[in-house]
Amino acid sequence: MGQSITARAHTNIALIKYWGKQNPELIIPYNSSLSMTLDHFYTDTTVRFSTDLTADQISFNGAIADTKTSTQMSQFLDLIRKQAHLPLFAAVETINHVPNAAGLASSASGYAALAAAGSRAAGLELNDRDLSRLARRGSGSATRSIYGGFVEWQRGTNDLDSYAVPVQETVDWDIQMIAIVLNDRQKAIASRAGMANTVATSPYYPAWVETAQAAIPAMKAAIVKKDINLVGQLAEQSAMQMHATTLSAVPPFTYFEPETLQAIKVVQTLRQQGVSCYYTMDAGPNVKVICASQETPQILAALAPYFSPEQLLVAKPGPGVSYR
Ligand code: DP6
Repeated sequence: MGQSITARAHTNIALIKYWGKQNPELIIPYNSSLSMTLDHFYTDTTVRFSTDLTADQISFNGAIADTKTSTQMSQFLDLIRKQAHLPLFAAVETINHVPNAAGLASSASGYAALAAAGSRAAGLELNDRDLSRLARRGSGSATRSIYGGFVEWQRGTNDLDSYAVPVQETVDWDIQMIAIVLNDRQKAIASRAGMANTVATSPYYPAWVETAQAAIPAMKAAIVKKDINLVGQLAEQSAMQMHATTLSAVPPFTYFEPETLQAIKVVQTLRQQGVSCYYTMDAGPNVKVICASQETPQILAALAPYFSPEQLLVAKPGPGVSYR
C-alpha cells in the first residue's frame, strides 16, 4: 500500500485575469495573468495509491464525487501515473474550504492540492515549477495556487514554459479582499466554455490579449510600490475588460446578475466619498472588493443594507502549497 499524503492549497483571485487558451488540451493561455493567493479559502486533499483498488475512489467533503468531477480528476491522476510509471488506482479525499462554483475558484485550490498530494503520493518529488506545470493541466488558475502572495502565471508557448512564478511571496503591506458571495448556485456558463466561446467569436479578443499583456508589468510595478490604489485600478480595469469580451461574444453572454451591479454601485459610491476600494469579478456573479484593512469596517457597513453578514467574507494574502 502506498503512502497517504495530504496537501493544502489556497485559492487565488486574479488581479490581471487569465481568459482564453491557445492550447485547450495543455491549458496554455493566450495571456499571462497575475493573482493574489488568499488565506481563508483552501482545499485539503489526501491521496493514496493502492493495489487494493480497482478504480479511483474520489470523495468531496465526505460524499462520493459526481461522475463528471470524478472523470476529470481521474484524467488528471492519469498524468501523475504516467509521469511516475505507477499503474495503480488512487483514493482521493478532498475537503473544500471554499464555496464551490461560486466564483471563488475552487478549481484553483482543488487542482493545486491534488497535484501536490498526488505527485508526492506517487513518489514524485517535483519542484515548485514542475508542480505549477502539473496543476495547470487540471485548471489554469491552479497554476498560480502553488505559491503564496502575489503570483504571475507566465503564459509561455508550450507545456515546458507555461508556469507560475512568485512576484511577492510575503506580503508585508496592507491589502485584502472582501468576497461578496451573491449566490452559490452553480455557474450557468462554466469558465472553460465561456472563455472558449469568447476566443472563438469576440472581435475584441485580440485587444484583450494585448491589453492584458501590457497590464502585467504595470501591476508588478504597483505591487512593488505597495500602491493599493494603483493595484485596485488596474485590477478593476482588467476584470471589466475581460467581461467586455463576453458581452461582445456571439451569442453574447454575461456573468453579471442584478446583485452584481448593486455591489459595484456601492463600491463606486464609496470611492466618490474618498474610500479606497475597487472591485473585481471572475466567471460568476460574485464581486470581490480590494481594499486596505482600515477601510474594511466602512465598506462592510455600506454593503450591510444589501447583503447579509454571511455573504461578506474578508480574506488576506495567503500562503502557497503545504503538506500536513
Ligand atoms: C475568470 O482556471 O477556472 O477566474 O483553465 O478552464 O479550468 P480552466 O479555467 P479556470 O478559469 C479562471 C478564469 C478566471 C480568471 C482567473 O482566475 O485568472
